[in-house]
Amino acid sequence: LVLVVDFGAQYAQLIARRVREANVYSEIVPHTMPLEEMLAKQPKAIILSGGPSSVYEPGAPQLDPQIVESDVPLFGICYGFMAMAQALGGQVARTGQREYGRTRVSVLDRGTLLQGLPEELVSWMSHGDEVVAAPEGFRVNAKSPRATVAAFEDTGRRLAGVQWHPEVLHSEHGQQILERFLVDIAGCRQTWTSVNIVDEQVEKIRAEVGDARVICGLSGGVDSAVAAALVQRAIGDQLTCVFVDHGLLREGEAEQVEQDFVAATGVDLKVVDAAERFLGHLAGVADPEEKRKIIGREFIRVFEQAEREVVEAAPEGQPVRFLVQGTLYPDVVESGGGEGAANIKSHHNVGGLPEDLEFGLIEPLRTLFKDEVREVGRQLGLPAGIVNRHPFPGPGLAIRIVGAVDADRLRILRAADAIVREETTAAGLDAEIWQFPVVLLADVRSVGVQGDGRTYGHPIVLRPVTSEDAMTADWGRLPYDVLEQISTRITNEVDEVNRVVLDVTSKPPGTIEWE
Ligand code: XMP
Repeated sequence: LVLVVDFGAQYAQLIARRVREANVYSEIVPHTMPLEEMLAKQPKAIILSGGPSSVYEPGAPQLDPQIVESDVPLFGICYGFMAMAQALGGQVARTGQREYGRTRVSVLDRGTLLQGLPEELVSWMSHGDEVVAAPEGFRVNAKSPRATVAAFEDTGRRLAGVQWHPEVLHSEHGQQILERFLVDIAGCRQTWTSVNIVDEQVEKIRAEVGDARVICGLSGGVDSAVAAALVQRAIGDQLTCVFVDHGLLREGEAEQVEQDFVAATGVDLKVVDAAERFLGHLAGVADPEEKRKIIGREFIRVFEQAEREVVEAAPEGQPVRFLVQGTLYPDVVESGGGEGAANIKSHHNVGGLPEDLEFGLIEPLRTLFKDEVREVGRQLGLPAGIVNRHPFPGPGLAIRIVGAVDADRLRILRAADAIVREETTAAGLDAEIWQFPVVLLADVRSVGVQGDGRTYGHPIVLRPVTSEDAMTADWGRLPYDVLEQISTRITNEVDEVNRVVLDVTSKPPGTIEWE
């Protein structure tokens, strides 16, 4: 276990992810956690993250100086680097001169940390102070135009740090530097792999569940599918999955759950086809929030009914005692908050399951990041179509039809969306795109011409976005030939559509979805 101490910037999660990418397990803790509590977790190393740009800033979080006496290997990043320098008796000068963004770092002495690296590195900086003298016993590895000491190490005491942010993509060799610290300086073993995650979780779930029965709701998304597959691996047919098909999924998605997922896992699946019911309640409703409310409400009703049926069908002496949820680590970090880490995201997850006190919760993905969840899904043999699926909103296509939802409009949007997915997958763009909503402007018509005739059809909006976490997003710069192919195919193959437009708005000010 490596602890990443969060000093309140947005970098802690990224650092924790990079540590995991080095196959070392990591957890984020708030800087307010008392040192004894951190040490009680018996970390193999502690990483001090970035934070405010100056250690002199009023209210800047303090580093418990005892930490450097604790014998645990330490790695300071940015603010953590300066705080460490100060605590160890180095000299930090308040220059007020900011070094921000892309910076060239010159390697002075590679030592262990910068082993095998070139003489200059492009690195991402964000600091106002400067370490002017390394603490005693330290070797200075690098400098930058505004940092006399930009990296240092004391391999004897297993301490090191860098002024820049090795965790961000723009910092060259960042991952390598982190690994040099983790492996060569701190002596961590690289055993955190998806095989081990599966084994560990399977054992844990078995121990927790015993003979009881377990329910899991499937949404069609990655998280619930992987959570269910893990539990299935652990306890086999003690698990029943419930899939409420609200009729608002994209083409082929319900089948993927009902057939491919079942074939891959052998899970006992109860499908509730509630499409008619949802369409009935949505009839004539155009307001987005109203749509969300209706779908959320009906979803809970249908799910609870199915849940009761599963409970009643349970064999004598084997009551249903647990509910599986696909909660991920970022949700835990963000809602647990911890001081400093702003509570950014209010989860508007439709189908947020009813709080049922009769059930215990099983959350096998609670410690995992999204990319790890995908890896575990692959490890468990889930179909690529599910494992690689982009995030998809709970209310589904209902909030991608601007206007009232009906079966005909769903059919049109499904057809257009299927073409978009086929073409982006064929062009190999899935991994670059975060999400690609396809939107039907159902109440808008425009004039077109096809063959010899005038048409009066609906526009389809393409909304490809890139993002790290859906909090902010940029519009995806798709190659023109892919856009052209999509446009040609949609207008040729979907009769009701005679115009395809591209949304070039970032978030903010636009949201990812149109509703
Ligand atoms: P926006 O449109 O707010 O979307 O930029 C951010 C992320 O949330 C998803 N989204 C939803 N997910 N229920 C959900 O489960 C919803 O009502 C909902 N609305 C938006 C959206 O797809 C994106 O990933």
